[in-house]
Amino acid sequence: MSDLYQPLAFNFNERSLAGRVVLIAGGSGGLGSATVALLARDGATVVVGYRHDKEKAEALKQAVAARFKASIHLVEGDISDPQVRTRYIETAESLGDGLYALVCFTGDPARVKFDDVTDADLQTSMQKNYIAPVLLAREAARCCQARQQEGAIVLFSTMQAVAVFESSINYAAPKTALIQAAKIMAKQWGGASGVRVNVIAPGVNRAGMALQSIEAGKYDSFIEQNLIPRFGRPEDIARVVRLLVEPDNYITGQVITVDGGLTLRRDKN
Ligand SMILES: NC(=O)c1ccc[n+]([C@@H]2O[C@H](COP(=O)([O-])OP(=O)(O)OC[C@H]3O[C@@H](n4cnc5c(N)ncnc54)[C@H](OP(=O)(O)O)[C@@H]3O)[C@@H](O)[C@H]2O)c1
Repeated sequence: MSDLYQPLAFNFNERSLAGRVVLIAGGSGGLGSATVALLARDGATVVVGYRHDKEKAEALKQAVAARFKASIHLVEGDISDPQVRTRYIETAESLGDGLYALVCFTGDPARVKFDDVTDADLQTSMQKNYIAPVLLAREAARCCQARQQEGAIVLFSTMQAVAVFESSINYAAPKTALIQAAKIMAKQWGGASGVRVNVIAPGVNRAGMALQSIEAGKYDSFIEQNLIPRFGRPEDIARVVRLLVEPDNYITGQVITVDGGLTLRRDKN
């Protein structure tokens, strides 16, 4: 494709996601629901995958319809199961021009201290935080490649994979593997009509799996010591996802840490 750049004729891609099919696995969760709302509001055709909490997924569907006059498609099941992954992909492929982007929020906090962790704990975390998302990403990329169309994938890691936090091996190690896998995928699938692959590494958000700990005061010291201006919000994440899935953007193989600066300043004394 020729380079379309013309001096001063800037193109900022208004509503560039309109009509694009985006599969958001784990979209009904604390962080994912804001991304679902934002992309649906921006006109994307959004397929939301969830594991088993149908009530929560239906509530999100109704909220998006009421607030943004947009409809979303729901698909259920655990993506560790290959048949479920196929169902997610086929649902997205059956809509519009087929799957354009995958955003995979699924993950597990794997809260077992390293001193206590068993072989089975490590394998379960590896399955949930690394193997299932990587295989879903490969299946999504194959759809775009089969059509020789551009695609985008966003995977979810954690700040604990970017900086070193004590005792977090069971969660952080598979999430670190996910980052390296994403970079390899980005390298392998790049080029014209390629599939861009990026990772978001969130900090501490007042939503989803961190909510209970925040409400219990576990992270108050981060605010008291002025390490972060506030806890993260699902909207902070949604805005970064939108940037990364925007068609024809120029970012691939990157990790964006969305943590308010926590990993930069947490050792400050
Ligand atoms: N919240 C934070 O502050 C924070 C910080 C750092 C990193 N992260 C990462 O960000 C991602 C999203 O976190 P969250 O807080 O939004 O989590 P969450 O509220 O627990 O939501 C998880 C979502 O993923 C679905 N899900 C989980 N495992 C699945 C599986 N194996 N197959 C299919 N669906 C599955 C859940 O469906 P059901 O509800 O039906 O089970 C739900 O929709 C995770 O990967 C997490 O590790 C979060």
